[in-house]
Amino acid sequence: MTSSISTLTIKRPDDWHLHLRDGAMLRAVVADTARQFGRAIVMPNLTPPVTTTEAAQGYRSRIVQALQDSSLPASSFTPLMTLYLTDNTPADEIRKASGSGIVYGVKLYPAGATTNSDAGVTNLLRYCTGALEALQDTGLPLLVHGEVTDPDVDIFDREAVFIDRVMIPLRKAFPALKVVFEHLTTRQGVEYVRDAEGPTGATITAHHLLYNRNALFRGGVRPHWYCLPVLKRETHRQALLEAATSLSNRFFLGTDSAPHSRNAKENACGCAGCYTALHAMELYATAFDSVGRLDRLEAFASLNGPAFYGLPVNQDTLTLQRQAFDIPERVHPDQADLVPLAAGEQLPWSIVRG
Ligand code: DOR
Ligand code: ZN
Repeated sequence: MTSSISTLTIKRPDDWHLHLRDGAMLRAVVADTARQFGRAIVMPNLTPPVTTTEAAQGYRSRIVQALQDSSLPASSFTPLMTLYLTDNTPADEIRKASGSGIVYGVKLYPAGATTNSDAGVTNLLRYCTGALEALQDTGLPLLVHGEVTDPDVDIFDREAVFIDRVMIPLRKAFPALKVVFEHLTTRQGVEYVRDAEGPTGATITAHHLLYNRNALFRGGVRPHWYCLPVLKRETHRQALLEAATSLSNRFFLGTDSAPHSRNAKENACGCAGCYTALHAMELYATAFDSVGRLDRLEAFASLNGPAFYGLPVNQDTLTLQRQAFDIPERVHPDQADLVPLAAGEQLPWSIVRG
């Protein structure tokens, strides 16, 4: 169902869910994102996590410095910082973050759900009502990793169960809270976000649009396809593609690019996360093209996110062309040794590099 379009120019996109890490890894990856995106919502799951506005300010400076040390002009990319919610985050810290001008969201990691989530929330509606009230009052969005951590719940069902156990009660208690359901992976998630009352949005990754869970086991265990929430079965991928390419402005781009070194991925207990910052827009264009919907890529990648966050759309543009892009086997070997998602494969779309 691919279309005949061979060149596509869209307003410069933003990445509404990104892991940049710190130190050498940050210096390795930041330019990959800044080459494509105008802004990115930067996840706070460092060690230690970014739990205060002051820590977010320090992290932001390190990102800007890393950008300056790369070949790109620092002005070309704006990091939008986030705080990591804990059971003890004071309401005042939320108000401070909201007034800081550099923090754009507060991330809920259910404790134990994923990488560096140990300091996350154990019971949202029991321990975080003060913080949630402050979020609702200030209009700062709550960014949700929507999976329960109950070991009795099957890993493929954790998102659907989270909707019943957490999202529905949360929405009832805080009807005006801005909520972003991050990295949506299921049909149930799509239906929830589409129909929810109150200001609700969702990010969708390129890998969940392109692959189903078979990719994890193609000819053997494929650790570079392992992320959380884990890839789901084909019916869910179809629902995500329908949502991303629908006319709903509730769905927007968030890569969840989550770099881990090759050793940490190719390991007896490999880390969760796909490195997609390198070729994010090529991946998304391939997904949209697969259903003949390149005409809707701009809304998803460049318009819906700013509208939800109340920010202006980027002024400049990005151009993609139908020309093969060979995904390298390894990138940044000196600083980080990363294996990009689908390494060694070819994508039909490339960015026209300026
Ligand atoms: O796959 C993932 N990797 N999912 C997350 O939620 C966290 C991320 C990471 O930080 O590595
Ligand atoms: Zn993430």
